[in-house]
Amino acid sequence: MALDPSSNLIGVVVCKLEYHRSGTFRGYIAMLAVQETHRGKGIATQLVCMAIDAMAERDADEIVLETEVTNTASLKLYERLGFLRSKRLHRYYLNGNTAFRLVLYLKLGTGTKRPQQLDDSGELPAQYGYPATGFDETGMREGHQILEGPQVP
Ligand SMILES: CC(C)(COP(=O)(O)OP(=O)(O)OC[C@H]1O[C@@H](n2cnc3c(N)ncnc32)[C@H](O)[C@@H]1OP(=O)(O)O)[C@@H](O)C(=O)NCCC(=O)NCCS
Repeated sequence: MALDPSSNLIGVVVCKLEYHRSGTFRGYIAMLAVQETHRGKGIATQLVCMAIDAMAERDADEIVLETEVTNTASLKLYERLGFLRSKRLHRYYLNGNTAFRLVLYLKLGTGTKRPQQLDDSGELPAQYGYPATGFDETGMREGHQILEGPQVP
């Protein structure tokens, strides 16, 4: 979260980390927003960098997100940080708008991994080295944390 000097919320990034069927430990940026009056000062960039650092520290292989194809500010921000356009998702949003999936590879070779077959219980087979437990009811790894950042001026 980004707070102003009076501790009012002016920006937020929401992210999570989970195992993906492709065999990667995947970070996901679910939300990024900065209050209109505080935009253009690098706050979102700082929040995204913090989210990337936090997920990289927890050994993420890659980080993905979706953003509308028309969201120039968001595309510029993420692409400046090294995110690549991996897919165009036609009419992805409920309002019918199309999205780009963006991906940032944190480890060599991550981009070449392909989805693996799940077993009958919906788990990845043990040979992939994933813990059979350790996920909460939302599918997130147990013990995942809400990340809070420093105050910004
Ligand atoms: C996208 C958003 C989070 C950016 O927040 P911010 O704090 O203004 O972002 P930053 O200041 O860190 O950087 C934004 C970059 O986009 C650029 N930018 C901002 N508005 C722009 C616009 N309308 N057109 C083109 N570029 C724009 C800035 O110049 C900056 O790039 P630069 O550093 O190369 O100059 C903010 O606009 C927002 O909350 N939008 C609504 C929610 C949203 O779209 N979230 C993203 C969903 S994936």
